[in-house]
Amino acid sequence: MVSSTQAVTLTLALSLLFTIAYSSCSDPFRLMLQKRNITNCKKLATIEAEFGWNYYIQNKTQIDIFFGVRGMEENTRWLAWGVNPGSEAQMVDTRAIIGIRQPNGSLSVGTYMITSTTKIGCQLEPSVIDVEVKNKEAQLSNTSGYFTISATLLLPTEAYNVSRLNHVWQVGYSADGLEPKMHPATLQNFDSAETIDLITGKSHGTGHHRPHFRMVITRRTNLSLRLFLRSQIQTN
Ligand SMILES: *[C@@H]1O[C@H](CO)[C@@H](O)[C@H](O)[C@H]1NC(C)=O
Ligand SMILES: *[C@@H]1O[C@H](CO)[C@@H](O)[C@H](O)[C@H]1NC(C)=O
Ligand SMILES: *[C@@H]1O[C@H](CO)[C@@H](O)[C@H](O)[C@H]1NC(C)=O
Ligand SMILES: *[C@@H]1O[C@H](CO)[C@@H](O)[C@H](O)[C@H]1NC(C)=O
Ligand SMILES: *[C@@H]1O[C@H](CO)[C@@H](O)[C@H](O)[C@H]1NC(C)=O
Repeated sequence: MVSSTQAVTLTLALSLLFTIAYSSCSDPFRLMLQKRNITNCKKLATIEAEFGWNYYIQNKTQIDIFFGVRGMEENTRWLAWGVNPGSEAQMVDTRAIIGIRQPNGSLSVGTYMITSTTKIGCQLEPSVIDVEVKNKEAQLSNTSGYFTISATLLLPTEAYNVSRLNHVWQVGYSADGLEPKMHPATLQNFDSAETIDLITGKSHGTGHHRPHFRMVITRRTNLSLRLFLRSQIQTN
């Protein structure tokens, strides 16, 4: 049974969670966006990633994206962001842009097609994808500590809808040349996908995943609240 004090505490905690979950981006990230004239931004639900975008709808949908994590201290080797034309936001079938930090200090960036064989651990090599990608770039910022990738994508309007765009993101700590190695198979890493409405900025996870809750719960609250909320979420 939950006492009224506990109920009030929980309500406060939940409203705080929502505030954090939907809060806009960090100051250093916003500064980087401003330099690129990118006007929309949100914190993503996992790995403390942040995502900025512009969109223009003509014959094709053009989106300018800027994606990043604060990762220089943590030896992050690669950073991936991609879109999935399928019906669900998921890793398999994602058309990705991956930036890799090379041991000699240089950065490589390429396009990659994530398939079901990638998921079971097969090699992931750069490849042509069926989305036109321009100006792709990976950056490390010494001043802000961010590892970022940016690009302009031309999405066929038949296959992608900006009101419900499936996007997927990931970081990894190991790479071999241009080949990113499998990310840690943690729950959090499998949750790094959502369907976003680029017009409103609202997003939702797919199926049983609720990434907004999970990020905040994992990062900001103690274990008992986390377990309590998880049981609440699952029974809802
Ligand atoms: C941003 O917009 C300003 C004003 O339109 C323009 O002068 C500048 O070149 C733009 N910067 C980039 C990176 O596109
Ligand atoms: C859109 O497509 C039409 C017909 O194919 C073409 O005439 C027009 O130039 C295109 N517009 C843009 C912005 O690409
Ligand atoms: C660093 O390593 C990458 C990958 O092996 C290579 O493509 C690049 O030319 C190297 N850059 C320098 C400056 O040595
Ligand atoms: C970051 O700092 C290191 C060490 O001071 C330097 O070697 C490197 O070139 C800098 N990188 C960038 C992107 O400024
Ligand atoms: C895009 O998705 C929105 C929201 O689900 C829907 O209302 C709209 O009709 C879709 N547009 C196209 C071109 O399919």
